Amino acid sequence: MDKLIIEGGNRLIGTTHASGAKNAVLPLMAATLLAPGEHTLTNVPDLKDIETFKKLLKFMGCKVRTNKKKKTVVIDSTNVKKFEAPYELVKTMRASILVLGPLVARFKKARVSLPGGCAIGARPINLHLMGLKLMGAEIKIEHGYIDITAEKLHGAQIHFDQPTVTGTENLMLAAVYAVGTTTLENAAMEPEIVELAKALEKMGAKVTGAGTDTIKITGNGELKTFKHKVISDRIEAGTLMIASAITRGNVLIEDCPTEHLAPLIAKLREAGTIIKEEEGGTRVIGDWPVLSTDIKTHPHPGFPTDMQAQMMTMMCVANGLSVITENIFENRYMHVAELKRMGAKIKIDGRNAIVKGVGRLSGAQLMATDLRASASLVLAGLVADGRTEISRIYHLDRGYERLEEKLKALGANIKRVKTSEKF
Ligand code: EPZ
Repeated sequence: MDKLIIEGGNRLIGTTHASGAKNAVLPLMAATLLAPGEHTLTNVPDLKDIETFKKLLKFMGCKVRTNKKKKTVVIDSTNVKKFEAPYELVKTMRASILVLGPLVARFKKARVSLPGGCAIGARPINLHLMGLKLMGAEIKIEHGYIDITAEKLHGAQIHFDQPTVTGTENLMLAAVYAVGTTTLENAAMEPEIVELAKALEKMGAKVTGAGTDTIKITGNGELKTFKHKVISDRIEAGTLMIASAITRGNVLIEDCPTEHLAPLIAKLREAGTIIKEEEGGTRVIGDWPVLSTDIKTHPHPGFPTDMQAQMMTMMCVANGLSVITENIFENRYMHVAELKRMGAKIKIDGRNAIVKGVGRLSGAQLMATDLRASASLVLAGLVADGRTEISRIYHLDRGYERLEEKLKALGANIKRVKTSEKF
């Protein structure tokens, strides 16, 4: 198992960029199941979750070719023979649930392991199944698996109790083969949804309203293959912005998806960070003292829950009191205990975390618990006094493409080491 070792105190200076967006690639990979032939994805990041999804597609019978240098993945789903997502794969990556919609749409059946809970919350999929039932699917759940069949899906009017990103994506992927029009109301509005809609339109489907809370999808007969460039990862870009802001850095983030980061940029400016557009990118200049501000996470276009942990780290060294409210997941404060081991002053009260800024954090031995918590610990290590060691960084590798190399190139004193158990 690898760990990261960070000596805190260096300012980040230089130019960097975000890789392709993990949460855009996964639904696009699922979309390749909808039509035979070779589909091409470019600007694909080298991430663990994407490797897991490739394993799943290969298990089903897809041919997958990767050119890591060119960041290109070609997927051919002509010979899909297995319509199943086994527990062994789903348990490591819950986004495997995204194969449910396309499998039942094109092959009339699917058997997908129920994703269990996860560190950040129960994360049920009742809304995915509610929508598929309304479209005419028969669903049975036993022995921890979802068995779904549908002779032919039909259009439906579906209202989500609350916006769900992969729920919206799953039903978009199912609706393209349904007879008639499907309307998704109270749909998720994340940029990754818009990207999936663009790909489905390239395949020949009719999709309107993506990016708003009402999406209409009309089945349009056989679909064809598509080629799509993956958008920049707004969460990685946001993490890099905070890395500059928190270290009094001066970093240019090339091709920064600022249009997808409005709430974060607003909050960083409130905290005293200078953010300005330049030729070829967005410059982020950290100023001290960091000013405290309050954060409430909401579905897009609200403040993203995937940036909550990283922003909390910044508030730990701010000059006052910040109240952070996590409205999306019920257990997304796993990073708090680790930050407190570094001297952070944080009190949890239900969905609220009250953060009292301290002058300095102190380096410590830490354990990563989930993807974005890992990123928040790396950020804390960058500004802490002394040495920070972060174990279980396989969590980090699920969603960040060699983050330590990007930070080192900006002047951070950070390295990845292989570990052997001491005791
Ligand atoms: C997606 O997860 C992202 N993952 C998550 O990113 C992100 O945190 C989340 O959206 C919220 O933005 C991918 O896109 C692969 P949801 P998803 O369904 O789709 C409840 C990361 O760090 N809900 O939008 O699983 C659910 O419990 C990951 O990259 C139901 O109750 O999230 C949660 O409280 C972490 N029933 C809320 O909705 C359902 O059927 C939002 O969940 C579905 C969801």
